[in-house]
Amino acid sequence: MRIVIFGPPGAGKGTQAKKLSEYFGIPHISTGDILREEMSKGTELGNVVEGYMEKGELVPDHILNAIVRKRLENESSFILDGYPRTIAQADALDEMLSEMGKPLDIVIDLEVDDEEIVRRLSGRRACRKCGTPYHVEFNPPKVPGVCDVCGGELYQREDDTEEAVLNRIAIYKRKTRPLLDYYERKGILRKINGSGTIDEIFSNIIKAIGVEK
Ligand code: AP5
Repeated sequence: MRIVIFGPPGAGKGTQAKKLSEYFGIPHISTGDILREEMSKGTELGNVVEGYMEKGELVPDHILNAIVRKRLENESSFILDGYPRTIAQADALDEMLSEMGKPLDIVIDLEVDDEEIVRRLSGRRACRKCGTPYHVEFNPPKVPGVCDVCGGELYQREDDTEEAVLNRIAIYKRKTRPLLDYYERKGILRKINGSGTIDEIFSNIIKAIGVEK
């Protein structure tokens, strides 16, 4: 099973990708998580990408393409979250997967309006250790500030400030949303309403994938 989970910032990609990963027992590959890990380790790559990420700008395509190629080399199944985000990335992904003989099965597009995105991102918290996403109101941890999964500390992302969120939404519309046509033409796009409870949306995604565990 090779899935891309697609949608604007805050659509619930990470939340649903984690559930799909547990359900199907396949890796969740989030380019945002990979980049944040590099930043927190203070690597050379982390230092390069920090300025882009804090402002909500896209990191250059060649960096992402190289990261994803390396990460996918040894995986036959995966859920890709946050990549591709530009036509150049989609072309690169197509090329690498066809070289590897493992084409995508489905692209799930989570559709959420701008007002809801701002509500979700302003209340989002994430675990510093394992990246599990929470929301102070819609999906709170059992103990405030503490991750249910690993006990790690919860924090608010630097790019969840209002200015960065508005920039991310604008960039999504300009550079990323055109990919919907790209995957529609390939016949593998499935649109899912991203409003509703996390469990309702998950169940609709499973129906769209059409494969029960
Ligand atoms: P990335 O980490 O991918 O951020 P994003 O796409 O902006 O998406 P988010 O992680 O903000 O949202 P999400 O859709 O995963 O929502 P979540 O499940 O957390 O990328 C960050 C940055 O990295 C980019 O800006 C860029 O700089 C760089 N980058 C990454 N990939 C790149 C690429 N390919 N090319 C170039 N640059 C790249 O949910 C959000 C909140 O809502 C949470 O609090 C959650 O609990 C809550 N929630 C979820 N579902 C529901 C629901 N149904 N109802 C109520 N609340 C909900």
